[in-house]
Amino acid sequence: MSMNVAIDGPAGAGKSTIARKVAETLDYVYVDTGAMYRAMALYFLNEGIDASDAGAIGKACDDIEISIAYEEGQQKVLLNGEDVTGRIRDEKVGNMASVTSAYGCVREKLVALQRKLAARENVIMDGRDIGTCVLPEAQVKIYLTASVEVRAKRRYQELEKKGETCRLDEIEQDIRKRDERDMNREISPLRQAEDAILVDSSDMTIDQVVACIVSLCKEER
Ligand code: DC
Repeated sequence: MSMNVAIDGPAGAGKSTIARKVAETLDYVYVDTGAMYRAMALYFLNEGIDASDAGAIGKACDDIEISIAYEEGQQKVLLNGEDVTGRIRDEKVGNMASVTSAYGCVREKLVALQRKLAARENVIMDGRDIGTCVLPEAQVKIYLTASVEVRAKRRYQELEKKGETCRLDEIEQDIRKRDERDMNREISPLRQAEDAILVDSSDMTIDQVVACIVSLCKEER
């Protein structure tokens, strides 16, 4: 049976950075499920579909094919065969993904793909509903969080590094809104699974969090 590690938590908690490093250390495949929701959101944006138009979203779901490929260990997301990895990272796509990920048709499609990937490989998968819904049998479940202020500051520094102009108060407001949506939607809201270990990274370095998760995984092997 393959080893499955689930990492859930709110936006900006550092899930992807940490999951990538744990995957490298343990030679697992890293699966970034947020990227899949973002790729679907990109399609809706490109097609000019209104996020509140359930009919249009449902119809579009039938026209979308999401797949995953790996190039030198890096995950690539393909939207109808086209690599969109470089186009899904901006805030507009992230916010659209937070809204459209509430639709059942969107989730069904992606959860099926995520389960297929986890069945055939040792994976570390990050998202919002991995421990509660996608992989309830995962051997290790982590709920990774940090205070809103710390998450906003990290995102601010990340954007600054990329040379983008941004405001800390706006980022913080954005994160609060995203938390609110992700935690309160009807289907698979973000919450800590009962058997997940809570890791608050507010006062931890990346390496400390990685070491903590690696040791939990080694105990389970
Ligand atoms: O982790 P991220 O910021 O790339 O995710 C973008 C949005 O996708 C997030 O706000 C909610 C949604 N998402 C989800 O609903 N379930 C997941 N497993 C992963 C992401």
